[in-house]
Amino acid sequence: MEFTIKSGSPEKQRSACVVVGVFDNRKLSLSAELIDRASNGYISEIIRRGDMEGKLGATLLLHNVRGTLADRVLLVGLGKERDFRDKEFRSAVKSAVKLLNETGSYEAVIYVTEEKVKRREVAWRVEHAVVVAMEAVYRFDQMKSEKAEVRRPLRKLTLSVPQRSDLTSGEAAAARGLAIAHGMELARDLGNLPGNVCTPKYLGERALEIAKEFPDVKVTVLERKEIEELGMGSFLSVTNGSYEPPRFIVFEYNAATKKQRPVVLVGKGITFDSGGISLKPGHDMDHMKFDMCGAASVFGTFRAIAELKAKVNAVGLVAACENMPSGRATKPGDVVTSMSGQTIEILNTDAEGRLILADALTYAERYEPEAVVDIATLTGAMVIALGHVACGVFSNNDALARALVSAGDDAYDRAWQLPLWDDYQDGLQSNFADFANIAGRAGGSITAACFLSRFTKKYDWAHLDIAGVAWLEGKEKGATGRPVPLLTTWLLTQETAPAS
Ligand code: BES
Ligand code: MN
Ligand code: ZN
Repeated sequence: MEFTIKSGSPEKQRSACVVVGVFDNRKLSLSAELIDRASNGYISEIIRRGDMEGKLGATLLLHNVRGTLADRVLLVGLGKERDFRDKEFRSAVKSAVKLLNETGSYEAVIYVTEEKVKRREVAWRVEHAVVVAMEAVYRFDQMKSEKAEVRRPLRKLTLSVPQRSDLTSGEAAAARGLAIAHGMELARDLGNLPGNVCTPKYLGERALEIAKEFPDVKVTVLERKEIEELGMGSFLSVTNGSYEPPRFIVFEYNAATKKQRPVVLVGKGITFDSGGISLKPGHDMDHMKFDMCGAASVFGTFRAIAELKAKVNAVGLVAACENMPSGRATKPGDVVTSMSGQTIEILNTDAEGRLILADALTYAERYEPEAVVDIATLTGAMVIALGHVACGVFSNNDALARALVSAGDDAYDRAWQLPLWDDYQDGLQSNFADFANIAGRAGGSITAACFLSRFTKKYDWAHLDIAGVAWLEGKEKGATGRPVPLLTTWLLTQETAPAS
């Protein structure tokens, strides 16, 4: 979809459709008011008849409204005016775009972006309208033999801003929204692909394709032999049971000054997590194809910053493999040596994410990073703690954690900090190795983060446990593309002067 920014009166738009808001209860927004005046009170007449109360997300499509130059006028409910905040704004835009995509309009002008949202500027509204619109029309039908064609899809959306002076910032915001949306689409596609297609090898190939499309991104894909040479014994122990060979994928993007130390993103890329010898129960095991969504968010974020030519130095590391049982698989009780030299007693082969991340986090040291952020569908306990709303943030630096939480707030991709106090470390104690890969059931997400913290002593680090937010279940089952919005927004706050 294409987006443009415009400032002007709704009744004067020559368009297939003009979208204006109505507040609950039957209160016209300013743009709806302008249409109403131009049409001699047609809108208020309809509203008086009770066809549009202004309930959040309600829609009413009108044709040939007198006094306007558009073919259609779409009324969209905004809910109560005093409750019109981030969530409501996004939900109104989503309803409008979903409907537009199903009507005959190839193109439309939307005025919801003119409505005030508490604490948010015009640029925020534009950026989010773009992200939400793209999310609303996203489809995953790569694996269907017959694609369900949308007859006349929405191709172009014009976002209206209140003043001509908003045009420049609006255009930059739309570009930001579009890059984030493209990153999310990539992350969603990778997440939704089945485990027999989206293998570690496939991820390596897709990374190389990104480097081809965006010359500012350099990609290196390491295979088993090189991974062995690096001494990544912890990572490799997870791949033992699998026929699919592992990959270690490195993205490098340098658009800031040489002096600027890079930010490193590390993604968990388990393309299928059966649990290994500590086999998972069968129920919903297919969800474990999503166990590479942390990796997918690294792909998506690099795509986004490359599209924006963001002035940052960034490195992306993805450890990709399957976790499978077999006669060669790692067994509970096995002891392995990580790249850091620390030994690990693997008491549960289903706690594999932390094993692959451990070595990737050690590898990150070579970049002398400004900060390292890992992203992982790490623990089922995270879903219990924060549900499907926020991901968990754990960090050895509170300022870093705060910056990530704040980026998540701005991006409507929320994160919430949990503690990483030393008191939680004790459970990892082992009689046979330096430490074990699991502690008791209590505080499972925190003890997983404690495990990772043993490999991140040399830099500022944060861990995002995205187990609850990376995909949805039920009718809307599928990958969400989170936390690409959070990560991209955060990286954009790190922009500095370009390399000269
Ligand atoms: N990939 C899972 C975590 C997960 C489970 C994410 C369910 C989303 C939904 C991870 O590898 C895992 O299996 N974790 C175990 C750890 C346990 C063995 C200490 C868990 O959470 O049960
Ligand atoms: Mn597991
Ligand atoms: Zn896993």
